[in-house]
Amino acid sequence: MSQRSCLSIILAAGEGTRMKSAVPKVLHTIAGLPMVAHVVKAAEAAGSGELALVIGHGADEMRKAALTFAPKAEAFVQEKRLGTAHAVLAARAAISKGYDDILVMFGDTPLIDPEALAAARLKLAEGAAVVVVGFRTENPSGYGRLIEKAGKLVAIREEKDCSDEEKKITFCNGGLMAVAGRHALKLLDQVGSKNAKGEYYLTDIVEIAAAQGFDVVASEASFENALGINNRAELAQAEGIWQARRRREAMLSGVTLIAPETVFFSHDTEIGADTIVESNVWFGPGVKIATGAKIHAFSHIEGATIASNCDVGPFARLRPGADLRNKAKVGNFCEVKQAIVEEGAKVNHLTYIGDARIGAGANIGAGTITCNYDGYSKFFTDIGEGAFVGSNSSLVAPVSIGKGGYIASGSVITESVPDDALAFGRARQRTLPGKGKELRERFSQAAAAHKKG
Ligand code: UD1
Ligand code: CA
Repeated sequence: MSQRSCLSIILAAGEGTRMKSAVPKVLHTIAGLPMVAHVVKAAEAAGSGELALVIGHGADEMRKAALTFAPKAEAFVQEKRLGTAHAVLAARAAISKGYDDILVMFGDTPLIDPEALAAARLKLAEGAAVVVVGFRTENPSGYGRLIEKAGKLVAIREEKDCSDEEKKITFCNGGLMAVAGRHALKLLDQVGSKNAKGEYYLTDIVEIAAAQGFDVVASEASFENALGINNRAELAQAEGIWQARRRREAMLSGVTLIAPETVFFSHDTEIGADTIVESNVWFGPGVKIATGAKIHAFSHIEGATIASNCDVGPFARLRPGADLRNKAKVGNFCEVKQAIVEEGAKVNHLTYIGDARIGAGANIGAGTITCNYDGYSKFFTDIGEGAFVGSNSSLVAPVSIGKGGYIASGSVITESVPDDALAFGRARQRTLPGKGKELRERFSQAAAAHKKG
């Protein structure tokens, strides 16, 4: 099958208003990736080499977005929304190039499984002219019904055009269709608009092809393949299904999730075996975790690289550019951004590390802050191997602390510290014997005098 050429046409021109949004529907995200990009990924995973995106309203924004998730896709504009067959024909120029297989998918159906696409392509390879991916449901209302005779598909009837008897059919059109490239245009050009909605229905090519003696079949897949998103409640439902799939995949690949339903992955999270993730952890985009790491509860992690056996959280925030090397530790209420924490270094409590390097084995005391920003520019802090930064220190960047440098607690460090030096950046303590008691007496007399007066 892999030798067969394949064009995927993704329809994304129909704009519902039920998202109540300034953003085109198919650009709303699931696991941080626009839903239409999930469809693109599925098409690519099913071996589809070429991509046509049919867009309409919000076309400029769509075009721009498509450059990021489907740079090779060719965009076609459907000027008027005249139905799904009409939308497919907007990509006529692409279809005319000649492909073995044509896949038609909807941009608002993000949970499409590449295996469902591959199964449909296989049926084309076996000689079918049209393959419809269907699903069974107890509640078929709103879906086109698949009408079969002797194991062959003879028609798809849209809900609005169904007889009462046909409405009882529970085998439905999932919206995914595979069409033999050499027949596609001929079939599409025969579609008319005499139906309840007055639209050109893609689904009509089933009846047209069947009547002309072509082999037309249904291929059954799970309901998720057909889950179309029309509002934000359905968006959340799809997110839930996506997350459940991903958690399972992570666990089966050797990751321990103690409370899986509280862990949220991004579309691109990479996480190695023997990593343990505690409850309530959020992964934003761009996270890579090697093996054997511990991610403690309530951590929020995005754009971070975490090497083997690191320890993160609880309540840690790793922001883009956080790069933790082997056995590094970032503890509770710490934030790390654009910084390398080298092997075995510890940033354990209530600390902000931004635009910095922390050398191997260094220890950063509680409450340490890298003051990296003056309101205009960002500056770098370099902390050498084995350095010790006492609690509650402010490191005013640009500044560096040499290897083995030692910073006294509560310091404000504005000048670089050489290797192995001890730096105090605070006033020295003065202790005055008996002065505490004297002070109390003075204050209490003053207060009594004030009351009398
Ligand atoms: C469609 C199917 C129905 C199936 C259901 C599954 C048709 C005629 N009906 O119905 O059998 O059970 O999906 O969810 O295909 N679009 C365009 N241009 C248009 C019209 C639609 O790009 O002119 C796009 C929409 O953006 C959407 C997709 O095509 O992504 C489906 O259109 P929609 O109106 O949602 O079809 P349904 O009524 O849901
Ligand atoms: Ca729909």
